[in-house]
Amino acid sequence: MTRSFLFVLGSTRSGGNTELLAREAAAQLPPGTRQQWIDLAEHPLRDFADLRHDSDHVRPTEGPEALLLDATLAATDLVIASPLYWYSVSWLTKRYLDHWSGWLRTPGVDFKATLAGRNLWGVSALAHTEEVVADPLTGTLRNSAAYLGMRFGGVLLGNGSKPGDVLADTAALTRAKTFFAREPEPARFAYQEA
Ligand SMILES: Cc1cc2nc3c(=O)[nH]c(=O)nc-3n(C[C@H](O)[C@H](O)[C@H](O)COP(=O)(O)O)c2cc1C
Repeated sequence: MTRSFLFVLGSTRSGGNTELLAREAAAQLPPGTRQQWIDLAEHPLRDFADLRHDSDHVRPTEGPEALLLDATLAATDLVIASPLYWYSVSWLTKRYLDHWSGWLRTPGVDFKATLAGRNLWGVSALAHTEEVVADPLTGTLRNSAAYLGMRFGGVLLGNGSKPGDVLADTAALTRAKTFFAREPEPARFAYQEA
């Protein structure tokens, strides 16, 4: 299957460090690799309400819900690019992930079967210099990938506070050069690790 990357941008500001770092990594993708970039702030999903047990879900046919569902289903490689907000994903990113719970119940979508075996990646900028504080964000993405039977490529982290700072994080820029060259592993929950 030809690789097709979907970059889901979860910052609440445009041109921020997370997007800059994601674009550094994306610049290394082989020529011709399909890339789609969707900024969640420009395409706001409805606030998620849990209707899983109350009503039938209907596949969205227009608006941000349809755009994001169709793009998510079409991607071989899904890149969640979220800044670190309170040690986890941003609220825009979390809202997108919450919609997965509705899409899992939407007839005719086969969300889980479609995403199974596909690749999930993360990119995140954070102000803290000790990257271990981003473990909750990494765990959120890795566990979500494991739940859906996806492969997980890990999270590319970069340091910065104000927009542009990450371009001074030379270690992150070096990691960005080879980030997407790695082979994602089947995602596992921590309790499944040997
Ligand atoms: C609401 C909010 C929460 C944040 N929480 C954290 C945090 O928990 N740890 C951290 O290191 N930086 C935190 N930051 C700083 C951002 O991660 C940092 O500024 C990052 O570069 C923002 O990425 P962006 O430019 O892509 O938006 C927070 C920033 C905001 C606005």
